[in-house]
Amino acid sequence: MSTVVNTARPARLGILISGRGSNMVALAEAVHEGRIPNAEISVVVSDQANAAGLAKAKERGLETLVIERRRRKREEHDREIAEALRARNIDLVCLAGYMRILSRAFIDTYRSRILNIHPSLLPSFPGLDAQKQTLEHGVKWTGCTVHFVDETLDGGPIILQRVVPIHHDDTVESLAARILEEEHKLYPKAVALVLESILGSSAAAGQMSSNSRNLDSSR
Ligand code: GRF
Repeated sequence: MSTVVNTARPARLGILISGRGSNMVALAEAVHEGRIPNAEISVVVSDQANAAGLAKAKERGLETLVIERRRRKREEHDREIAEALRARNIDLVCLAGYMRILSRAFIDTYRSRILNIHPSLLPSFPGLDAQKQTLEHGVKWTGCTVHFVDETLDGGPIILQRVVPIHHDDTVESLAARILEEEHKLYPKAVALVLESILGSSAAAGQMSSNSRNLDSSR
């Protein structure tokens, strides 16, 4: 599966959030500091009007949109989000604490161009409360994973992972906080890696190409 992306301009990121938005902030800082080269965050979309991340995005001068579900079918809600992303020519969709499962139609529209971050070493402990699941199983090492989003729950191809040790006195909160620190380092690296693969090495070196290249999701 490959996706053609126009590389004649900076890659446009659309970030989907539902809450705190700390990973969105980590991505925004990485773009600002050039750790994600040739990219801009074009929009931050929240499905929750009271998401704390919205204010953090506005503080950074990012466009924000609230697109609530409002008892609509998943497909209808997703269609509105996809239209907002399409209107802004979004190249890459980054889920950052976005708490909804995406419809098949949305995934098809942005196939190989949707990334998610998850607070475990996938394929272990997908789904909700990953840190709690991790502690309950008594594993000694965990971490975080950035992966492409497909139809499976947290099951798409893995891009990067970071390992975090579990301490004997860890609580869900202490473990989640330690994993989150690593998430903030990992997500920008994964986005930069994927964009480099979209744009090619010339773009990574700061020279935009007017060609279109392919993103291969099979890495
Ligand atoms: C993170 O732990 C992320 O791995 C998970 O949801 C949490 C979002 O946190 N998908 P934040 O909103 O980015 O602070």
